[in-house]
Amino acid sequence: MAANAQLCSKLFLMNPEQLASLRRLDAAHHLHPFTDHADLHRGGTHVMQAGSGCTVSDETGRPLLDALAGLWCVNVGYGRREIADAVHRQMLELCYYPSFFNTTTQPAILLADKIAAHAPAGMSKVFFSNSGSEANETALKLIRAYNKLRGLPAKTKILTRAFAYHGVTIATTSMTGLASCTQPFDLPLPGFVQVPGPHPYGAASSLSAGDYGKWCVEETQRVIDREGAGTIAALFAEPVQGAGGVIVPPPGHLRELRELCRRRDILFVADEVITGFGRLGAWFASGLWDLEPDLITMAKGITSGYLPLGATMPSDAIAEVLSGAGYLAHGFTYSGHPVSTAAGLANLQIIEDEHLVERVRSDVGPYFQRKLRALASHPAAGEIRGEGLIGAIDLLPEAGRAALKTPPVLGAAAAAMAREEGVIVRGIRDLIAMSPPLVITHEEIDFMFAAIARVMDRIGAV
Ligand SMILES: Cc1ncc(COP(=O)(O)O)c(C=O)c1O
Repeated sequence: MAANAQLCSKLFLMNPEQLASLRRLDAAHHLHPFTDHADLHRGGTHVMQAGSGCTVSDETGRPLLDALAGLWCVNVGYGRREIADAVHRQMLELCYYPSFFNTTTQPAILLADKIAAHAPAGMSKVFFSNSGSEANETALKLIRAYNKLRGLPAKTKILTRAFAYHGVTIATTSMTGLASCTQPFDLPLPGFVQVPGPHPYGAASSLSAGDYGKWCVEETQRVIDREGAGTIAALFAEPVQGAGGVIVPPPGHLRELRELCRRRDILFVADEVITGFGRLGAWFASGLWDLEPDLITMAKGITSGYLPLGATMPSDAIAEVLSGAGYLAHGFTYSGHPVSTAAGLANLQIIEDEHLVERVRSDVGPYFQRKLRALASHPAAGEIRGEGLIGAIDLLPEAGRAALKTPPVLGAAAAAMAREEGVIVRGIRDLIAMSPPLVITHEEIDFMFAAIARVMDRIGAV
């Protein structure tokens, strides 16, 4: 891997004393997100040091192929000088100024324009925030204000799907359909209602993907009728559910769900925090699958993770109602932060100049999917799912599905084995998930799946 050589040449290796000291300080002072701290400090935290292309290096200086793009976000790959230069320039020119008080900055304007140019028809306005959670939280508030303004204040309930992940604020956790996220916090809040997601394997259903998808739509309709459409504001859906296990809907499923929402006057929100900016071989899944959402939320690939940034796009119809209603008291100190939006602009310029969306659509996406699906006949493969440059393998022990343990162990075990093989994947329940940078090469995809095949050879015995 060319990136490996480049990376190794610029590595500054940590000596054992430095590493031990950092691990001591980390244990003493640093609370990590989504972490079992006892487990973390037993093994010693990994201190990542450098990144170039699709490769990162850990505290030992060992190169690892990052098949998760950080956390589904480093779309243009690590070490892009264009983004670093744009950020450096902007910091010196104007490090910060708010977009409150009838003011804003040039990069915020230009990025909003560029995103609008790539968004589906009828969406031309962008509200900036700092994360996917804030983008969804913003969507929730815009929807509440919109329904109130159009004389429907009773429409406040929110529908989301099983296995959904929409963030970690109190409201967005309430939208997340994963018990590990909700139960410790006694969530969801009242008014957040879950409907099934299109994941027959996860629900241990014997129905085909198509039939299960149909049942999900029918069940959603029953829930809407039970709750009363007049009380329901919106349905949020990730086009491909990422953190829930890379759940790809059957063809036409989301469109059916969307139409159901339209018939019941329920807003349809596409959470494109993972799927936006090229992951599926389109700028947005909403355009790819003709979803005509009422709102889109985005983050991650908007800056490829170089700096935090989130955004919410309401349809022009919703934006018109909101902007005609006077002062809108919503926004964050860092909404439209000039340095984050400068990073976003440079990032989108790379995606355009290097035709990365087209590359996923017609080159590396299909290649990745072929390699992924070639593992379907492996005895450790329970189910394989994927679309574009995202995929997952639900794993099985030698004795088959009935022998899976509770709580699940195979995802974490397989991710640890993959790391030994030089590849970072995400372990979730009994599955591994992959979403590499869009710049990944065929050679790197070969390396990654050869490593995963070796992991699958070993995992049956866990
Ligand atoms: C689909 C989706 N929505 C929202 C979020 C929350 O984003 P953040 O972690 O930036 O708050 C995530 C994060 O993984 C996500 O995958």
